[in-house]
Amino acid sequence: MRTIPFGKPIIGDEEKKAVADVLNGTILVHGPRSKEFETLFAKYTGAPYSISVSSCTAALHLTYFYYGIKQGDEVIVPAMTHAATAHAVELCGAKPVFIDAERETGNIDIDRISDSITDCTKAISVVHYLGMPVDMESINKIADKHKLFVVEDCALAIGTYFKGIHAGLHGDTGCFSFYPVKHMTTAEGGMLITRHAEIAEKITREKAFGVDRTPSERSIPGVYDVTMLGYNYRMNEIEAALGVEQLKRIDIFLKKRRENYESLNRALKDVDEISTFKSSYKDYQSSYYCYSAILNEKLRQKRFEIVEYLNRHGVGTSVYYPRPVPHFTYYTKKYKYKEDSFPVASWISSSSIALPVGPHLDAEDIEYIADTLKNAIMEVK
Ligand SMILES: Cc1ncc(COP(=O)(O)O)c(C=O)c1O
Repeated sequence: MRTIPFGKPIIGDEEKKAVADVLNGTILVHGPRSKEFETLFAKYTGAPYSISVSSCTAALHLTYFYYGIKQGDEVIVPAMTHAATAHAVELCGAKPVFIDAERETGNIDIDRISDSITDCTKAISVVHYLGMPVDMESINKIADKHKLFVVEDCALAIGTYFKGIHAGLHGDTGCFSFYPVKHMTTAEGGMLITRHAEIAEKITREKAFGVDRTPSERSIPGVYDVTMLGYNYRMNEIEAALGVEQLKRIDIFLKKRRENYESLNRALKDVDEISTFKSSYKDYQSSYYCYSAILNEKLRQKRFEIVEYLNRHGVGTSVYYPRPVPHFTYYTKKYKYKEDSFPVASWISSSSIALPVGPHLDAEDIEYIADTLKNAIMEVK
């Protein structure tokens, strides 16, 4: 039997040496590694500005903080996402207005956005679900018409391109995550990219207490002013050192993911009981975060039996995401959404199994995953 975790960070000697170098030095925060990581990330994505932060959630929160989002404001948020996408809005006292998903990709159903815009709406947030890009041209059209800003949650979208432009550069900010199961990791960590100099300048201060000068900008050590409110959302040098080394190998990681995804897709093509989301085509380039096996109506009742079979046979799985965010207790209690209010997102949550395709898998692992899933289906049918 094989043991195949859903996600496994690939940490090599280069990462270990880079981290040891930081630990053997004197600068653990505010140092050259976070600057280097920002420069490399900007170069990789083509972003004019790139700001390292402590998580994707921090990047999302900083975006709303920068725009002064407050109680009484509303932000359009996809229902099919991680709680963080909506929490960032809630943390500012504003209201996330959830939009159901589209069936083909799991991305926000763009056709439903306009009807949900009110005088209180300030922004549209989108998530490139499982790395498949949202049609950002249509999103920007709606945003321009209503004078809204656009936040791209790119937690699963390093290597995602829409019309040849990297995810995160279509909206006003793009927020990335380097949590361990992502395409690359810094343990915890995130990055905010933007095309706007003013956002970059202000968020750089806001992520570090609102002080007016970083330590390297201070002519007299310890002397600075605080000109605005701010958080402590910095990325430290240990995380940044990891990030620099991981980013050097990101193209290899992404290529392997794509190959694994395509092999698994081929191997499961003829399994009638499952379907999957639409992936890369024309202007839409996915980052292939995972393979989502969507069980048919009959089998979805047996989903956890199938998951249990897969896990028992060494195949790690996950669910993206276990409920539409508005159906999590915090949100149902607060906003009283009915159980049938997000039918497509609910269907995804209750019918899909996320299978691994990360670079930690080889061709035999993929074959094993496909065979084990087929056996699981036979067993529970
Ligand atoms: C779509 C999405 N947004 C945000 C996050 C939160 O990222 P972080 O843990 O870096 O804050 C996640 C985490 O998986 C996610 O899937």
